[in-house]
Amino acid sequence: MSPTRRDLIRSGLALSTYSLLPGSLSKAHALLGKYADAQSADDATPGSHRERLLFDFGWKFFQGHAADPLRDLGFGVSQDDFAKSGGFEFATQKFDDSKWRTLNLPHDWAVELPFVRDDELQSHGYKPLGRRYPENSVGWYRRVFEIPKSDEGLRIGVEFDGAFRSALVFLNGYFIGRNDNGYAPFRFDLTDFLNYGGKNYLVVRMDASFGDGWFYEGAGIYRHVWLMKTDALHLGHYENYVRPWTQRDKTFLTVSSVVQNDSEQAESCEVHYEVIDANGKIVVGGSSRTTVPAGGSKTQIGAFSLPDPALWSPETPNLYTAVFLLESDGKVRDAERITFGVRDLRWDADHGFFLNGKRVEIKGTCNHQDHAGVGAALPDRLQEYRLGILKDMGSNAVRTSHNMPTPELVEACDRMGMMMLCETRMMSANPEGMAQLELMVKRYRNSPSIILWSMGNEEWIMMPKEQGPRVVADMIARTHELDPTRLCTAAVNQDYKAHFPEILDVMGFNYNLDEHDAYHKAHPNQPCVGSETASTVATRGIYSTDKLRNWVSAYDLNYPRWAETAEQWWKFYAAREWLAGGFAWTGFDYRGEPTPYGWPSINSQFGIVDMCGFPKDDFYYYKAWWGTEPVLHLFPHWNWEERLGEPISVWVHSNLDEVELFLNGKSQGSRKVQPLTHLEWKVKYEPGVLEARGRKNGKIVLTEKRETTGEPVAIKLTADRTEIDADGEDVALLRVEALDKQGRPLPTADYTISFRVTGEGVLLGVGNGDPNCQESDKEPKRSLFSGLAQVIVQSTRTPGTITVEAYTEDWPPPKLPATKIVIGTKKIGSRPSVG
Ligand code: GAL
Repeated sequence: MSPTRRDLIRSGLALSTYSLLPGSLSKAHALLGKYADAQSADDATPGSHRERLLFDFGWKFFQGHAADPLRDLGFGVSQDDFAKSGGFEFATQKFDDSKWRTLNLPHDWAVELPFVRDDELQSHGYKPLGRRYPENSVGWYRRVFEIPKSDEGLRIGVEFDGAFRSALVFLNGYFIGRNDNGYAPFRFDLTDFLNYGGKNYLVVRMDASFGDGWFYEGAGIYRHVWLMKTDALHLGHYENYVRPWTQRDKTFLTVSSVVQNDSEQAESCEVHYEVIDANGKIVVGGSSRTTVPAGGSKTQIGAFSLPDPALWSPETPNLYTAVFLLESDGKVRDAERITFGVRDLRWDADHGFFLNGKRVEIKGTCNHQDHAGVGAALPDRLQEYRLGILKDMGSNAVRTSHNMPTPELVEACDRMGMMMLCETRMMSANPEGMAQLELMVKRYRNSPSIILWSMGNEEWIMMPKEQGPRVVADMIARTHELDPTRLCTAAVNQDYKAHFPEILDVMGFNYNLDEHDAYHKAHPNQPCVGSETASTVATRGIYSTDKLRNWVSAYDLNYPRWAETAEQWWKFYAAREWLAGGFAWTGFDYRGEPTPYGWPSINSQFGIVDMCGFPKDDFYYYKAWWGTEPVLHLFPHWNWEERLGEPISVWVHSNLDEVELFLNGKSQGSRKVQPLTHLEWKVKYEPGVLEARGRKNGKIVLTEKRETTGEPVAIKLTADRTEIDADGEDVALLRVEALDKQGRPLPTADYTISFRVTGEGVLLGVGNGDPNCQESDKEPKRSLFSGLAQVIVQSTRTPGTITVEAYTEDWPPPKLPATKIVIGTKKIGSRPSVG
């Protein structure tokens, strides 16, 4: 039952400026009721002037030049370019962009570049970007849009969720602003520069000559862009928060908002807020009256009790919504919707990490942000897809190494129940470092998934010096000011005897298992987590290391000097209660860092799953010991014609009691499962059927087979979903395989398959998870690798169907019959976007 107004008033506690003003709640309720069913934060706010319009569609793109102004639209020919107030013709009506390429955002041009053999590019995936490749390092984006006359008087801004890198923004011939780093969001107010009642010319020059990291970072506007319209009297940007806290088993909410008055006269107003639970019930609400001086801002804050909250956890990702509404003179001037969750975090030096009072082991993975086919420009659905794979593995946490994540990833973690260690890119107390940190904390502090902030990763030079502790102490102090509910860590590798780690609320270990116990003994009061572990290397579907082909066998055996196998690190962590668990490097393979090889390897082999999300065998080690379901995974495949009569290592990952192995019906022996340990047999190869039978309490509960397969006769396409949204954003992910006569997928197939996409969709990219494959991510064909490839298709904004045909060319053989799959695209209320 919804609480009555009296209940709400009684729940008010320690109010400062937020209170329940007589009569205001019912008014607020009537106004706010409209938002209860709205889909997203603050797209459209009926009655108010706020609009948040997706600015992703219909851009033009041109590759400029970082060293030659004549190949860069003449930009920089005249040396006063940044001082002059206007005259940038490329951002005016006079400029002809008809020869520029049309595309939608998010867009990463790095993924479209060829691979170049240059050792300096190894850790970036051999993509020719940077100061030595000026011809590839600048991209220009241009968008023409209209602003109605009626928008005059509003504040209008453009907001980037993150773009790589060094953005220069121009509008209607004027220079508007710049932003250097590649991960934090940035925005510019356009109000004074717009043409009201006509066309506007927005141009963004992106320059990836410099990088922010040693890994593949992409290039261009690779996250969403928004056009924001608000009244001159509006709610502050990233200012409103709802902060749950617990005292003596009771939950309280601190609710805070900021009203900003960008008009020329003082304004009296009321801010109303309501907290709505997942069933749409209003559980608490209040109002605050204030007068905001011209050009000034005012904060409203109050604390309220929240009886019987539905707690957030990975198993029960319960969310609440808070709607803030700003009213003055009886008119709604602005509104904002925030999602938050209620959960209690506790870090303990002896017992690890507690969520809602219960010890929880962090079963996490670190991840970079790129995916097969799309580079760093991930459609929102891909975030969900990737998290779904990690959740299926039993993982409950991700670390956003080594940068501030995109909002869709954080929102997906909130929704799907994935805890997050959220990391800033720049470990510094300089203005840029502090600005990045502040943006991260303010932007995401309402998200229940975030359990810990990371001040950065392995800053080898600064950490052991005297500046290290000073810098990080400043960063931590500022983080605590903005968010007193979460602790801070940093990912530390080797500098364990320096003073740096002592400054951290929670010590973060990267690797070096042999140092952990001594550190803990010397710092018995400091909670500890494995900020980075494993770095196990494996090539999916490959079972013998081949240095000529840059393959690493996928048995859990291989790792570089500083790293560990899955079994080694997890056994070590699971045996120590004081360790809160950790984050394996990495969940997904990523471009760059092809350790232990170099050219022609273009992506890492550290992933538990490959670039497409196809599991390697270690996935099942983690699933067995992190997940809750019975697991029986048998490998390798059973196609070893060239090794007839030779002993083959057969492994099983299982959490059952006992597993018996059979070859062609003959028992190869039974093995008892030891906790956190794989099983192993040596079996002389003969073609046929290898079978594992897993017993629990004496009964066979799972069996798995590997069969010697025959010649290819068919291609199989499987879609993750056969109906997607017709919103120009949603994607379907297709799994491509070759089958033999008996319909069995061929585990070693490497045939090239071509694709034709017709109807209401486009091919967004392709991949196969091969760390050495230098085929294009964008062309409509891909070779299978260890039997698999992936195709990503995206809907248009017209409902209908997308047909994907898969076929083989005549040469090289085999020629397989073409096959196709049809994906429906359904009409939905697309998010409001710039027309
Ligand atoms: C770590 C580093 C990661 C990655 C990893 C590879 O030291 O933090 O970014 O490079 O090594 O093992």
